[in-house]
Amino acid sequence: MRETTPQPIYLKDYTPFGYLIDSVDLTFTLSPEATRVRSRIAFRPNPDASDTTFFLHGENLKLISAAIDGQSITPKLTDQGLTADAPNAPFVWEAEVEINPAANTALEGLYMSNGMYCTQCEAEGFRKITYYPDRPDVMAPFTVRIEGAEKVMLSNGNPGASGEGFAEWHDPWPKPAYLFALVAGDLINHPGQFTTKSGREVELNIWVRPGDEGKCAFGMEALKHSMKWDEDVYGREYDLDLFNIVAVDDFNMGAMENKGLNIFNSSCVLASPETSTDGNFERIEAIIAHEYFHNWTGNRITCRDWFQLCLKEGLTVYRDAQFTSDLRSAPVKRIEDVIALRARQFREDNGPLAHPVRPESFVEINNFYTATVYEKGAELIGMLKTLVGDAAYYKSLDLYFERHDGDAATIEDWLKVFEDATGRDLSQFKRWYSDAGTPRLKVSDDYSDGTYTLTFRQSTPPTPGQDEKPPRVIPIAVGLLGPNGDEVQATQVLEMTEEEQSFTFTGLAAKPTPSILRDFSAPMILQRDSSNAERAFLLAHDTDPFNKWEAGRALAKDGLIAMIREGASPDSAYLDAITAVARDDTLDPAFRALAMGLPSQDDLAQTLFDGGTTPNPQAIWDALETLRQARAQHMQDLAPRLYAQYQVEGDYQPDAAQSGARSLANTALGLITRLDGGAQAQRQYDAADNMTQQLAAFCCLLQAGKGEAAIAAFYDQWQHDRLVIDKWFSMQVVQAAPDQTAAVADALTQHADFTMKNPNRFRATLGALAMSPAGFHHASGAGYELLTDWLIQLDPLNPQTTARMCSAFETWKRYDAARQDLIATQLDRILATPNLSRDTTEMVTRIRG
Ligand code: ARG
Ligand code: ZN
Repeated sequence: MRETTPQPIYLKDYTPFGYLIDSVDLTFTLSPEATRVRSRIAFRPNPDASDTTFFLHGENLKLISAAIDGQSITPKLTDQGLTADAPNAPFVWEAEVEINPAANTALEGLYMSNGMYCTQCEAEGFRKITYYPDRPDVMAPFTVRIEGAEKVMLSNGNPGASGEGFAEWHDPWPKPAYLFALVAGDLINHPGQFTTKSGREVELNIWVRPGDEGKCAFGMEALKHSMKWDEDVYGREYDLDLFNIVAVDDFNMGAMENKGLNIFNSSCVLASPETSTDGNFERIEAIIAHEYFHNWTGNRITCRDWFQLCLKEGLTVYRDAQFTSDLRSAPVKRIEDVIALRARQFREDNGPLAHPVRPESFVEINNFYTATVYEKGAELIGMLKTLVGDAAYYKSLDLYFERHDGDAATIEDWLKVFEDATGRDLSQFKRWYSDAGTPRLKVSDDYSDGTYTLTFRQSTPPTPGQDEKPPRVIPIAVGLLGPNGDEVQATQVLEMTEEEQSFTFTGLAAKPTPSILRDFSAPMILQRDSSNAERAFLLAHDTDPFNKWEAGRALAKDGLIAMIREGASPDSAYLDAITAVARDDTLDPAFRALAMGLPSQDDLAQTLFDGGTTPNPQAIWDALETLRQARAQHMQDLAPRLYAQYQVEGDYQPDAAQSGARSLANTALGLITRLDGGAQAQRQYDAADNMTQQLAAFCCLLQAGKGEAAIAAFYDQWQHDRLVIDKWFSMQVVQAAPDQTAAVADALTQHADFTMKNPNRFRATLGALAMSPAGFHHASGAGYELLTDWLIQLDPLNPQTTARMCSAFETWKRYDAARQDLIATQLDRILATPNLSRDTTEMVTRIRG
């Protein structure tokens, strides 16, 4: 156990820092084990602050010297930072520290990755670089000088002087320290160029390790599309002469929006048809857009404190989703996002880690970069837009940028902008930010004499620390279909504000079928007793693509629940309805592939639990297998036809049209494999010239138990490419039979290419175990034990990634007493580890409850 329990900090305790900063000058003298950082910071007292303590954060720093106004001083040091006596007038702080980037395995602050220097400062990494008020409301212009022998030496902003052994940078835009970045190494650039709408010429670069230069073209195009889109849709222009992106192999997260110098996990920027799947391309495009969009929503307007994280993240996720919808297919993007929201955010909201979109306390902020802050945060923006309407939304955003440019803002500021621009009172809407938990929406209906009434009842189950949940305002998008399938009421947004509320529709010729929560207009769980016939009717006729998909999903889920709970046979209503959708060539192939997807094991487990049944992971897996087999049989004529019809001719393009066709053809391949034992999959594997085709075939072969040759061939072909080898690791774990999952993962951790120092590889192996429910929750407990062994080993090296992966256990209270005991033993084993990190301590303590 730790000697001191880390204390939470609270939103309500916010106070401004006692000093403002006019300028920051940093000089780095690079050396892998002993980098020197000299700082020269011009402070002055903050007239708005009452607390004048001069405290600078600092962790793992060796202080060489410190001075105030040229006078050497001896500050009071703790393991958190230092305090000193500061004059009540403007003064200059100077310090020199030494740090050891080579020993930094936490990948926070300045660290080395493959011999290259790089940084990650969000949220609180800058304090591992030098002493500084490391909080987002302290903003300053930075000037940086890098001294070293590296070929390329980059920092934020525009380039200044450079020469043999040094490079200087100046960032004119005041920024908080979390947006600082430095990169130095043997890098090659893929150049590009963009002219902004007002005529500013911007030089663009994607910097990569030698050998990766052939994987930058797609990212560069995505960057240019993002820059243009933000001008066209939000009127936001780029504000420096240069925009750099760097790819780094060892990175805890996806990417980081440092001003003018975005740093990416290489898996989130490098792309080529041979090595990346269609899904990878779409994700890379979205992440490049996300980080670029942060330049306005995050950098120009930042957060006052880390409780406001959703201010930049929710909004920026919302913006990148709009971008993807515009560039690709809006319905497909919406369905994909809702699948992910349910899988990650609903899961979080239902368990011991549930927290509000704007949390009120935390121990370690890195533990709050969550699906709730990001994805539910984005849903709140979408609801706000639905409630005020498109025109008022963009008017409010214009006011936000005008009023708060240069500010470190709050959710109150954000909502006030909407209130001022629209005249609406948003106090009830604010509950979405403060109240955790996924609301349930119960629906009943009534029809008589041409009048149809929908009655809704909202309720939200208690979450840790929040028992009572008053009603929220909910935009419920509804349409009505007549008996012949025609739409008799176009989509209308009902605004629910009370616990129970009814809405009527008049002048109807017959009882309609309602299509409720169209486009998933609010992140809720809809509870409506609905017949198979109604679901099949909506699947066939709904004009709202999301609800059309949702009807098919609900039909599949009802059938699966009956199979698991009552031993029912596969539902023929589902099989017929889904076959009709698959066959319907008027529908987008990408949509059809999504409609043919099945609810996840985890989704079924939660649904069983909510319905009072303790989920048995093996029974869930068996039911899915049985249904898949029955479906393959049911579609045995259609599948080969679809497979042939949707083969893509000509050059590979990662666009929506081609990827949709490949996705449907690969879905058909999955069906075919269940009947031919892998013959077609082997042919596709052998002929594949792109990773989408190759990986889909590889996955089918593994599933069919025919993967042995492909496992060897895949490794031989790709052993030089770490990102492809990550797929090789994860696919073997994910496709293992449940009683083999832990053993496969265990064997892979013994492979020469396994390393726990690389988060991508660790996640590809142990993360894949955690994401394979039947294998992870196998009754033997082997999955729990293996994951725990590795989390305990990783924690001293990389607390952030360890803590994040502890969420594998967040669903443990759903399961039977035997599994709960096994998990409790592992959680206690983690908590009993000496010197456990603050990150992991907080996570496991919250999960343990
Ligand atoms: N701001 C980054 C992004 O969403 C993520 C940084 C996450 N950092 C962390 N320490 N959790 O684009
Ligand atoms: Zn972000």
